[in-house]
Amino acid sequence: LGFVPRGRQRTPKLDKLTKEIQLNMKNSAPGPTFEQDREAVRVRLQDIVTRCNSFPSGTELHVFGSSKNGFGAPNSDLDMCLAVPEGSDIGDPAQVMGRLAEDLEREGMLEVSARLTARIPIVMFTDGLTKIECDISLQNPLAVHNTGLLATYAGCDVRVREIAYAVKRWVKAREINSPSDGTLSSYGYVLMLIHYLQRTPGSPVVPNLQSIAASWSGEPSKVYEGEREAKLRYVQHPTEPNSRVNCYYYKPKGEKERGRLKDLSMRNRESSGNLLAGFFHYYGFEFDFRKHVVSLSPQMLEKDLMGEVHCWPCHLGLTIQDPFETFYNVGHVVKLWQFHRIRREFARAYTVLTEGGGLDMLCEKPEEV
Ligand code: GTP
Ligand code: MG
Repeated sequence: LGFVPRGRQRTPKLDKLTKEIQLNMKNSAPGPTFEQDREAVRVRLQDIVTRCNSFPSGTELHVFGSSKNGFGAPNSDLDMCLAVPEGSDIGDPAQVMGRLAEDLEREGMLEVSARLTARIPIVMFTDGLTKIECDISLQNPLAVHNTGLLATYAGCDVRVREIAYAVKRWVKAREINSPSDGTLSSYGYVLMLIHYLQRTPGSPVVPNLQSIAASWSGEPSKVYEGEREAKLRYVQHPTEPNSRVNCYYYKPKGEKERGRLKDLSMRNRESSGNLLAGFFHYYGFEFDFRKHVVSLSPQMLEKDLMGEVHCWPCHLGLTIQDPFETFYNVGHVVKLWQFHRIRREFARAYTVLTEGGGLDMLCEKPEEV
């Protein structure tokens, strides 16, 4: 790779980095009214959907992605999806979404365009009032659930968000965050980060929220308070009507339960600077991408095993298991040559940080090739 891995250790340089990481989040994270402001846009759009009569009554517009997952920025796009009541027939999805595009244009939305033949049809536009970039997809319940899962991980410990904001800045600056160019989505990078934070040396920074009910069974019965309320949830798979997906995860209901999750995280006392360097070291030098799958499952999944269980073709590139759609590779968009670039970026990032470079150097624009 051209980079020599160095042992990970706590150094004064990384303490300085921790301060930079904290400042970066302060500068990048949106203000306190962010979610409310976006909710106001959603309400206006819900009104258009209801009035225009293209969808059955009871159709709901939901927000997902970085507007709600704890990793958003003021300029993040607003991802939304329509949930049509179970059992109602909307006819041809492409046609009905085409009508939605016309309705939105008539109601003052700007730059309306649509991808109607995609796996999940989608309409893209800019909100005329706030100028926020929006997209609306059809029947995407899993995105709403995985957004809730990421938001719960984000709430486990402040370091999760601090590191995620640094990683998002790094992937955008180094131009490795564009699925249409064969690199990885933000969603994919956040899953890679959570996988790492579940496996930090010593104590994990975050627990496994999808298996926490089982793993906490040996503890006092109080631990079950949240679990009892979070029922086993199944949603219909959007493109495979006969398969159901288990969307259970532990969702704390009140301050006491949130505190319990925070206590678990506090068992790991590493600084954000050390954890960020550890994340880069893990994927730059430790993780065997040929053999292993990046997954939030408690075991380390091997590609051969995945082939057996989920009939995935075993391939050389980046494999990231979706936490709910366990047969879906979030990394399938990544082209092999881009994957090698991404790996080199992880190695470079580790070297930059451990040689005293700060966030600015980490996020330097790549040289033209
Ligand atoms: P930025 O837009 O870069 O700020 O980040 P984001 O958090 O909005 O991430 P991204 O645009 O990559 O994805 C938005 C949301 O779409 C995610 O939070 C997921 O809920 C969903 N999503 C994105 N990619 C996938 C995918 O491959 N599979 C599934 N099931 N959901 C996805
Ligand atoms: Mg987004």
